[in-house]
Parts: sequence; C-alpha cells; structure tokens
Amino acid sequence: MKALVLCGGMGTRLRPITHTMAKQLVPIANKPVLFYGLEAIRDAGIDDVGIVVGDTRKEITEAVGDGSRWGINVTYIHQEEPLGLAHAVLISMDYLMGDNFVMYLGDNLIKDGIKGFVESFEKTRPNCEILLARVVNPERFGVAELQDGRVIRLVEKPDVPLSDLALVGVYLFDENIFDAVKELKPSWRGELEITDAIQWLVDHGLRVEPHVIDGWWKDTGRLEDMLEANSIMLETIKPDIKGHVDSLSKIEGKVRIEEGAEIIESTIRGPVVIGERTRIVNSFIGPYTSIYFGVEIIDSEVEHSIVLECSKIAGVPVRIEGSLIGQNVEVIRSPLKPAAYRFMLGDNSRVGII
Ligand code: TTP
Repeated sequence: MKALVLCGGMGTRLRPITHTMAKQLVPIANKPVLFYGLEAIRDAGIDDVGIVVGDTRKEITEAVGDGSRWGINVTYIHQEEPLGLAHAVLISMDYLMGDNFVMYLGDNLIKDGIKGFVESFEKTRPNCEILLARVVNPERFGVAELQDGRVIRLVEKPDVPLSDLALVGVYLFDENIFDAVKELKPSWRGELEITDAIQWLVDHGLRVEPHVIDGWWKDTGRLEDMLEANSIMLETIKPDIKGHVDSLSKIEGKVRIEEGAEIIESTIRGPVVIGERTRIVNSFIGPYTSIYFGVEIIDSEVEHSIVLECSKIAGVPVRIEGSLIGQNVEVIRSPLKPAAYRFMLGDNSRVGII
C-alpha cells in the first residue's frame, strides 16, 4: 500500500495567507497541518508516500524533505496546474501503478488517524473505500448517497444535497481508479473531480464501500475551520514549560511554552502554545491560541487565534480574537498624529475594526 498526499491546489479560500505560503504548512497547535497527515500515514504502516505539489513545491519540499524524520520515503510529483483531485491521481499513475493506495488531502485533519480505515480495506478488499462524515452544511462538500449501506451516487458541492454525508479527505483505491480517471471530462468548474471518478466505479459495477466516521475531522481550507482545528488540537497538548516565565506572570490550564520563549508580567490561560523565542510582555494570551516562533506580543491581548512566525503585536487597546495573523505581520499602536488607522494590507486581507 502506498499513500498519495495532495499538496497542490490554489488555496483561494485562505487568501491572503496562501499568497505567500502553502496552506498545508499553516501550523495547528504549532505543527504544520500536513505533518499530522504524514504521522497518520506512518502510523497506518505505510512507508511509500507520493506528495503532489504545485506552485508551493519549494516550501513543501523544504519542510518535508525525504520523509526520513517520519521513517517514510517521500517522492514528489509535480502538478503543473491544479486541475482537480482526480487529475492529481492521473499524473501520479506511474508512481502508484501496481499498488493499492490511500489518497489523503494535505489540508485535512482526522483526529483518530487512518489506521482502522486502512486495515478494514486490507481485510475486505473492495475496489474503493470512502470515508464519510455527517455535516450540517453538505453543499460545501462532495456528498454521497447510500442505499442499503451501498454507495449509489456522489455529487461534488451539490446545490440540493442528496444526504448529509460528506466525503472526508481520505480515500482508498485499487488500480481500477486509473481506468476511471482516464475517462473523465472536466466538470463545470474545469476540474477532474474525484467524485466523478468514484461514480464511474459505481456505474461500472465495482465495489465502493462507505465508512461513516464518528470521530472528529476537519478540512482546514477556511479560516473558521483552521481556528476550530487549532482549538481541538490544543485540547490534546501536554503542559510543558521549557521557556522562561517570570515571577509576575500567571500560567493557567494547559500551556506549552517552547524553548527560548519569555513570558514577562503576563497571563497565559490555556490551552495555549507559545513557540520558540517568542516574547510575551505585559499581555494576556487567552484560550485556544497558538503563537508560533519569534513573535513579540507587548501590551496586548490575544485569544482564540493563530499567530505565525516573527510577527509583532504591540499596544493594541482591544482584545484580538478569531484571527489568523500571517508571517512578519505588525499590528501596532501608531503614535503618529492625526490619530487614525494606518494599514498596509495585502490583497484579500480582512480587517474587523470596532
Ligand atoms: P481544495 O481545498 O479542494 O482546493 P484548493 O486547495 O484549490 O483550495 P480553494 O478551494 O480554497 O481554492 O483541495 C484539497 C487539497 O487537495 C488541498 O490540500 C490541495 C490539494 N489539491 C491538489 O493537490 N491538486 C488539485 O488540483 C486540487 C484542486 C487540490
């Protein structure tokens, strides 16, 4: 069994963050979301992992390398254009041929991993196994319709959903999927859809097994989902204080403070992670917040947010919450007169002021 991890795509829903970084590398509880997936694949006993990369291939390659830190062998497969999930399978055919494989979307998080799912596929050997989860907004997902426990229809982002069963970003296939993807035509949005490929398997009498999960899963493609994933993963951290906390600071609940971090005259109320070499001075860091490395937070309050590396927040008079703050961003109180908001915002930025 091999794995195919999809790390191409456009990431339009996470702009402007994705103008400068791969969404699969945004840290959740200070660990890139992709790394959770690679760990799940390794824990399922899979050694050979193909990673489909697009415009952000340099970053992904630098972050993952040859996979040896997870004990896996990584091969990179370049997708010239993000022409769909089934297109990613099509261009990976030479790499995958001769093996069954699990396809894993690099921006998805499945808290309980994929070991049980891979084992059930090996035991029952259908031609395809899909993972499904009940959702309240199926129109945002690929949706499956079941009859007597069998998959009969799949539709990508339907206007009128057939059921509340969304396709989770993990799929298991045997070699029949290659016949399917070779036959596909682009959909209305110009992509080769994996739902159409699976529908092809159903229509050709091949066995497609559904596997409805009840554990927690998240597609982190939007800000709200990324913050929720961050909250859930922060609940699982082990408290650990490696950095320096001065005697005037208070640490409450589950908090991890990484090496070289400094907490001065501040309150940190977990669950929270504070990254290496980050400085928190005269500030409040509230629950469900991940602060990455090299950040400075001075005279400010931040809660339920993710702050990426080397950013600075200083003198902000109102609590910041529900925010994803990118790399090298400055949010600082301006001493200049006239008193006014002064912005330099990238394309697709969003600012909420009071
Ligand atoms: P999506 O989130 O469906 O697509 P996207 O990354 O283009 O994002 P947006 O809709 O916000 O523009 O992709 C799911 C995963 O699959 C993600 O990790 C990117 C990856 N992917 C590819 O590798 N190749 C592709 O052609 C597509 C469409 C996605």
